[in-house]
Amino acid sequence: MSAVENINKENPTCGCDPYLLSLIEPQTSSVEKKSGKFTGLLIASITGGAALGLTALCYPFVAPALRRVVLPYVPASTAQVDNVIKALSLVKPNGRLIDLGSGDGRIVFAAAKLGYPSHGVELNSVLVFYSKFQAWKHKIQTATFSRQDLFKVDYSKFRAVVIFGVDQMMPELEALFEKSLSPSSHIVACRFPLPNWKPLLTIGEGIDTVWVYEVKKT
Ligand SMILES: C[S@@+](CC[C@H](N)C(=O)[O-])C[C@H]1O[C@@H](n2cnc3c(N)ncnc32)[C@H](O)[C@@H]1O
Repeated sequence: MSAVENINKENPTCGCDPYLLSLIEPQTSSVEKKSGKFTGLLIASITGGAALGLTALCYPFVAPALRRVVLPYVPASTAQVDNVIKALSLVKPNGRLIDLGSGDGRIVFAAAKLGYPSHGVELNSVLVFYSKFQAWKHKIQTATFSRQDLFKVDYSKFRAVVIFGVDQMMPELEALFEKSLSPSSHIVACRFPLPNWKPLLTIGEGIDTVWVYEVKKT
């Protein structure tokens, strides 16, 4: 074997002795190593914190969707709110109104404006906070809100119910209303009708339709 071949065997790239090479190659100092570790930790903490914050922020919007029947936040259109107001003006419920899943409170505020003391129950705590803040800001004492599951409401306190739900939950709600509402109370169902009850009135059309029902006297 020639001398050149022998040298290249030790370090095929430059032909240098690896030990001698290691003496002249720049080494990472312990200070640099520590600062690199710190930067890594900082980035991990920032991204981890941001992910946690985002999860906490989104949770109230996602939580209702984790339930058996998904009832997402879809605000009522202006036409839909107008139809609810038309319905209330026609049937004139004689007592407090409750909006089930009150969202940003738009139906509760419209009904309160019409003269009906109204309450909104809503699972999303951000929306409940927002609605309460709006009621406080505009000094509307007849519009109140609570963070509550609509399936755990004491319905005996109310004479009118507004619901903008989803199709799949209407049979369960129908049974709940039958059991919990006092006779001659009114129900205004938005977009999805109750499956078996005969409506007193149907107002509007398409996705803005509302159906009005009266709980039968027993
Ligand atoms: C279709 S949106 C209607 C919002 C509002 N009523 C409107 O018309 O603008 C349904 C609302 O119900 C809420 N929700 C879902 N499940 C609920 C439950 N079990 N109890 C109370 N609110 C619920 C959702 O967070 C959402 O804001």
